[in-house]
Amino acid sequence: MKKIRVNLGKDSYDVWIGPGLLQLTGRLLKEKGFEGKLVIVTDPVVKGLHGETLSKALAKDGFKVTTLVVPAGEDQKSLDNAIRLYEQLTDAYAERSTLVLALGGGVVGDLSGFVAATYLRGVPFVQLPTTLLAQVDSSVGGKVAVDHGRLKNKIGAFHQPKLVIADTDTLKTLPKPELANGLAEAIKTALVRGKEFFLYLEQNVEKLKALDIAALEEAVFQCVRIKAEIVEKDERDAGLRNILNFGHTIGHAIESVSHFGVRHGEAVAVGMVAAARISNRMGLLSYNDVDRLISLIEKAGLPARMPELDTAEILEAMRHDKKVDRAQMRFALLKEIGDAVISDEVSLDFVREVLEA
Ligand SMILES: NC(=O)c1ccc[n+]([C@@H]2O[C@H](COP(=O)([O-])OP(=O)(O)OC[C@H]3O[C@@H](n4cnc5c(N)ncnc54)[C@H](O)[C@@H]3O)[C@@H](O)[C@H]2O)c1
Repeated sequence: MKKIRVNLGKDSYDVWIGPGLLQLTGRLLKEKGFEGKLVIVTDPVVKGLHGETLSKALAKDGFKVTTLVVPAGEDQKSLDNAIRLYEQLTDAYAERSTLVLALGGGVVGDLSGFVAATYLRGVPFVQLPTTLLAQVDSSVGGKVAVDHGRLKNKIGAFHQPKLVIADTDTLKTLPKPELANGLAEAIKTALVRGKEFFLYLEQNVEKLKALDIAALEEAVFQCVRIKAEIVEKDERDAGLRNILNFGHTIGHAIESVSHFGVRHGEAVAVGMVAAARISNRMGLLSYNDVDRLISLIEKAGLPARMPELDTAEILEAMRHDKKVDRAQMRFALLKEIGDAVISDEVSLDFVREVLEA
């Protein structure tokens, strides 16, 4: 079992990582001074697989639990569901001190975090991430949001959790495509600030794909450690934190142009390869590092080549996403594996050339 402190002044918190942690949730909450009433928000899939373990453990420690269920899926990260949750919290007599526990993937985490940030002008919340993506990335850092139409993640807040409890045992039930989504984010984290962690991934990717719990625990630990360091320096995403978008500018455009037919992890994988090639053409990243990146992505079972999509549409989607009306756009690039920088000098022509190649 591992623990990392995210140091953000009065909003600091611990992230616990390891197997069997759901059973210890009550004890960890009590240590933080929580008691009495709390509300779990989850989706039906996660409730069916892990809900009982959690509610039993909480009941044993004397908590009075209300469970609220939102349907699974990205399209459920909506204002409509946020409003439904506000009403259900009111029905459950939730108060300013009532703790919200988010049990699930990034969708449940982002949605419940947004509700916790806004209900009664803010109630405390704790993240219990159950996907690899949520454990390595979305549960840490305090960005919470809902989607609305084309406003993906654009209605949101910064609301840090009081605690993150990442039970690696929950990953045993994760379907393969969800595992690949998480691996893409883990590779991204290594690329931007984790040279040694990248080596670890190269050597252990097969174990991770086989859901080896010790390897997953180490990967989650390294990702959280790196993300915590970045968030501590730039909590509000004013500069450095942008490097965590590596591969996402092109990735989001691919997801959107494919009408989400290309999954998030796959789109980010292709986006990272494209961003690496752009970095290489700009004289920043060596050919050797580009090859290492492609090789790891392929070993992780993710695609490295562009899907059959119209380049002009992808560029248009990027322009739209970034609200760019200039010929240049802000981009996370790599100087070497483990060292990302933000550049304002990437031209759309350059991106077009790389995508077409
Ligand atoms: N806040 C942030 O900093 C941040 C960062 C990255 C991504 N995100 C957001 O995260 C979301 C994606 O999160 P996600 O990939 O976890 O998707 P998700 O929450 O939709 O979960 C994917 C699927 O896995 C199922 N699932 C969850 N845990 C499971 C388990 N242990 N076993 C079996 N099935 C399980 C869910 O029911 C769902 O069907 C996106 O909305 C994205 O915008 C947020």
